[in-house]
Amino acid sequence: MNRIFSGVQPTGNLHLGNYLGAIRNWVRLQKEFECIFCVVDMHAITVWQEPAALTASTREVAAAMIASGVDPKANIIFNQSQVSAHAELAWVFNCVARLGWLNRMTQFKEKAGKNRENASVGLYAYPNLMAADILLYKATHVPVGEDQKQHIELARDIAQKFNNDFKTELFPVPEPLILGAATRVMSLRDGTKKMSKSDPSEYSRIAMTDGPDEIAKKIRKAKTDPEPLPTDREGMTGRPEAANLIGIYAALSDSDVEDVVKKYGGEQFSTFKQHLADLAVSSLGPIGEEMKRLMADPGYVDSVLRDGAERARAIAEPIMREVHDVVGFLRP
Ligand code: TYM
Repeated sequence: MNRIFSGVQPTGNLHLGNYLGAIRNWVRLQKEFECIFCVVDMHAITVWQEPAALTASTREVAAAMIASGVDPKANIIFNQSQVSAHAELAWVFNCVARLGWLNRMTQFKEKAGKNRENASVGLYAYPNLMAADILLYKATHVPVGEDQKQHIELARDIAQKFNNDFKTELFPVPEPLILGAATRVMSLRDGTKKMSKSDPSEYSRIAMTDGPDEIAKKIRKAKTDPEPLPTDREGMTGRPEAANLIGIYAALSDSDVEDVVKKYGGEQFSTFKQHLADLAVSSLGPIGEEMKRLMADPGYVDSVLRDGAERARAIAEPIMREVHDVVGFLRP
């Protein structure tokens, strides 16, 4: 059976990259797969989070999923810390994964920066918890943006090593699903940097809750080069900002990059940006409005997460029992 698991960290500032790289694809995949979507609050605390802000961001991410069109009844939406088996399986995986594997993780290197000695142990072991998220449900497919590919490869290595070490076929080896024309949305201020929640500049990203004026202003101010738009895909080489805006347009309009350069090749950026802003406002505007409405009703959002956690636990428990048996843990 095919099952999807994916997650988003509640660290504030949900943006267009999260939407186009992940959440929007989930909305489509929910028709074909059994889906489990998680607000990964335990991953969030690998770097410091103000407790009240963490609670608010957890509700914001859940609201984003629902507002984008993920059906919380047909799928499971929950926050990770409500299902304690994530932490339990992560510990087993801490004992399966090798230091050498984690040392290769580029996200740790980026996030820890120069001051590695001061990074939390959790930040280092982050990918093991992510493998636990996926494998706790025996998920077969993991829809994510490009930046998570290395983490999914590690989850595959962990599944394979666990199966080999214990001579079992308990875990499926999960496949990444990296879909659409914008699998790596870049900063609007610098086309060589990923659009990210932690960029200090608000103008680097379009937030999922931005209103029409903010969206239009950010796109107008987005960095570009002085040339008109390229007329073919090759013409995007060495023009990261142009490539990024074209990719965003393609993703939002459900077309591909070739169609966009055919339509706008040779035009000035000022014209293209106006069209892109209209497109972004019409796609994101209603989602942002619905998110705000849901966030004003925390009782409802919390009830979705509670119900989701209960259903997640029901799937996880028998799988965790299998893990205990395979590892040789005595059970009551
Ligand atoms: P997070 O919270 O950084 O991002 C959530 C999702 O958004 C995608 N994404 C992007 N896609 C395109 N362009 C961008 N600029 C961009 N920025 C973010 C991410 O690829 C991701 O799909 N480790 C994960 C969360 C996680 C997870 C999991 C995912 C925890 N456990 C299990 C899948 C399965 C993360 O930090 O995502």
